[in-house]
Amino acid sequence: MPKYYDVLDSNELVVLHEVSNLLTSSLDLKESINCVFELLHSRLGFMKGILTVVNQTTMLPSIKVSYGINSEEFKSQSFKQWEAITSKVLQSRGPMIIPHLDEAFDISGIKNVESVEDESFICLPLILGEDIFGTLAVDFLFRDDENLQFIIKLLDVVALLIAQELKLKKLLDIEKESLRKENVSLKHELSEKYDIHNMLGKSKVMRDVYQAIKQVSSSNATVLIRGESGTGKELVAHAIHYQSQRAAKPFIRINCAAIPESLIESELFGHQKGAFTDAFETKIGKFEAAHGGTIFLDEVTELSPQMQVKLLRVLQEKEITRVGGLDVISVDVRMIAATNNDLEKAIQLKKVREDFYYRLNVFPILLPPLRDRNMDVLLLAEHFLERYCLDNNKSISRISSAVSDILTYYQWPGNVRELENCIERAVIMCNGDIVLPKHLPPSIKVLEDEEVFSFSGNVSLKDKVSRYEKKIIIDMLDNVNGNISKAAKSLHTTHRILGYRISQLNIDVDKIKAS
Ligand SMILES: Nc1ncnc2c1ncn2[C@@H]1O[C@H](COP(=O)(O)OP(=O)(O)OP(=O)(O)O)[C@@H](O)[C@H]1O
Ligand SMILES: [Mg+2]
Repeated sequence: MPKYYDVLDSNELVVLHEVSNLLTSSLDLKESINCVFELLHSRLGFMKGILTVVNQTTMLPSIKVSYGINSEEFKSQSFKQWEAITSKVLQSRGPMIIPHLDEAFDISGIKNVESVEDESFICLPLILGEDIFGTLAVDFLFRDDENLQFIIKLLDVVALLIAQELKLKKLLDIEKESLRKENVSLKHELSEKYDIHNMLGKSKVMRDVYQAIKQVSSSNATVLIRGESGTGKELVAHAIHYQSQRAAKPFIRINCAAIPESLIESELFGHQKGAFTDAFETKIGKFEAAHGGTIFLDEVTELSPQMQVKLLRVLQEKEITRVGGLDVISVDVRMIAATNNDLEKAIQLKKVREDFYYRLNVFPILLPPLRDRNMDVLLLAEHFLERYCLDNNKSISRISSAVSDILTYYQWPGNVRELENCIERAVIMCNGDIVLPKHLPPSIKVLEDEEVFSFSGNVSLKDKVSRYEKKIIIDMLDNVNGNISKAAKSLHTTHRILGYRISQLNIDVDKIKAS
């Protein structure tokens, strides 16, 4: 063991610098104090050390780190003396220095006889301002008074550094606790608004949807999500998965409309090498990849009746066979399907098999169109405003009341997605602090010009119908960049009839094209 007097000439600043580095190098105080004791031992020959920390709530002391003391010594008489000194130091808030331990008497007046060498003992309070954080006690060989003074001076600074660390920890703990409380209260506040996994909406219809999601999440039941385009079906599928016990396992989406018929089986169930011309390698399918998790079959009505039969079997048997393979592979997968099609009509048209429909329809969730959840529109609009401001590095503070009126009364044929796109566009268009009607897409803005939605006063049925008709035509023209032929086709009418209505309803097609 190196003797402290060998290194006495070493610059005390170097030691202090190392101590300070050690204290700030780790977030784990216990670990860094241990390193400090190790350093004091190797550089100055300290033999034993104890850091006692006072709990800042109960003010009770406890040993945080001990160095060089074995379990036997903990039970010894001299250790009891250490303990007694520590509590005295805590009470008096002053240091206790015993140059020669063998000459000291313990608290009960018994002379300490266990010490064989001439040891010194120092116990310093860890104080910063009014706060006392604990004590630092060390035991080392006595050399001479000068050396003792040097060590006292050095330890004084070490104690201050440790006290600073403990104060910092105390402040961090207070901040952590206040953040935790704030987090809990924000979560509580949010739960009233958001309720489920990224889904916004406080309307009764949406609360019913949340309830359904909560109910079904804990089960393994197949879920069928129905709703118009842009109503949030994919969000619901996510919510179910992430609320379920499968959350840590994969969630795999398959867009049934986007995969060619010839590839879908291999995509879903995988294939063996050589199963078909391009099968150069054995590949696992989405069902195997989703094992333990959830598979989301989006636009499920696009699957061919043959595939429906195969899926039905998988759902019943919970087994798959790779294309070209012989082995039967067990899979544990929860299935969620979604469609915006009229399923009953699809059955009539023989696009969807009835048995498949019944198997899917175990737990249907119907997402209401945005026009049926009017009270959520502004909530969603503000949410998207915040998000797209962040994305586009803009600071728009609010939506004008005129825009709020327009958004609230608009019928949103494209549902939440259309609202999201509308706000994204407004954020891009707006260079000021407030979103104004001029920042909205023409299909919405034009209507505002003519107060289409304010049905106050004496408005005849004919007028109301005309206004809606105008809105529908403008929306469609906006979708197809003002192309009348395309709009006519989508609205199942002729170019001539649509052209006539456009002129009757005073729709400015050029303005729509320009936008
Ligand atoms: N309740 C909601 N809260 C927040 N964002 C929503 C909500 N509903 C939908 N959205 C957002 O609207 C967009 C469309 O949602 P999503 O893709 O889930 O709709 P969809 O019903 O699957 O549409 P499609 O039938 O066209 O596939 C997404 O960007 C989604 O994040
Ligand atoms: Mg979708």
